[in-house]
Amino acid sequence: MFRAAIHKHWRRIRFQQIYRRFRSYTMIPPAAFISNLILAERARHVPGCVVECGVWRGGMSAGLAVILGPDRRYYLFDSFEGLPPAKQIDGPAALKWQQSIEAPEYRDNCSAPPEYAKEAMSLAGANHVELIKGWFAETVPNHFFDEPIALLRLDADWYDSTIVCLEGLFDRLSPGGIVIIDDYYTWTGCSRAVHDFLSHRSATERIDAFGGVCYLVKQAAENAGTNEPGRLEIVTAMPSALTGPQGPIRCSG
Ligand SMILES: C[S@@+](CC[C@H](N)C(=O)[O-])C[C@H]1O[C@@H](n2cnc3c(N)ncnc32)[C@H](O)[C@@H]1O
Repeated sequence: MFRAAIHKHWRRIRFQQIYRRFRSYTMIPPAAFISNLILAERARHVPGCVVECGVWRGGMSAGLAVILGPDRRYYLFDSFEGLPPAKQIDGPAALKWQQSIEAPEYRDNCSAPPEYAKEAMSLAGANHVELIKGWFAETVPNHFFDEPIALLRLDADWYDSTIVCLEGLFDRLSPGGIVIIDDYYTWTGCSRAVHDFLSHRSATERIDAFGGVCYLVKQAAENAGTNEPGRLEIVTAMPSALTGPQGPIRCSG
């Protein structure tokens, strides 16, 4: 009991340190960043590479690399030129956000050159990193992976950007692999894309959440249509210093 409390305490401090190391490379708020790290820990025993679609300056990918180790392969997809135009399907808040170019959270339409992401991944000590520059519709379906995906992180904000990544990458996940969907609770287009994708294929994976972060767990083919596994056992208290009220609208994050 005492040992468990000590372990939890050190783990909490370690996660806070990881956030501090990468905070200038990410727009994800601290509590959500740490929830992502905790979810990534659950993928530690899942074989395969790590993919993030929607990287910006690479801070979240770098945090994942610290948790999942320097020897996995990390694939970072982004235009590195910011978001494409939002459409009606993305909802009025998205259209308004993209017109508000003076707002502090606009961040030049979430644009960042790839050098930041390279730097963040190097700080994380990742040995195998590939940055794939371009629009997802062109890069994602055509990319060759020579191993399955253990963790797929989607941080693409809009409907088209999210669904193209789900369609191109979901079937490449290892059974038990995790998909984190950053914008599910933030942007209408993202949640619509997740619902459409799952319903078009009659998928039985559950939409779950941990610490306000949405995720799915890829079912093994033999478990499709059953209650197995599709959920993660997560018994971790959130670091109290990092929980707290968060505004609903961010530049994704
Ligand atoms: C909110 S930012 C990602 C934040 C990042 N994960 C972090 O740690 O702060 C969204 C990113 O998605 C990228 N993006 C969105 N849709 C895209 C698309 N269709 N093709 C390429 N990049 C896209 C943008 O360029 C932007 O860098």
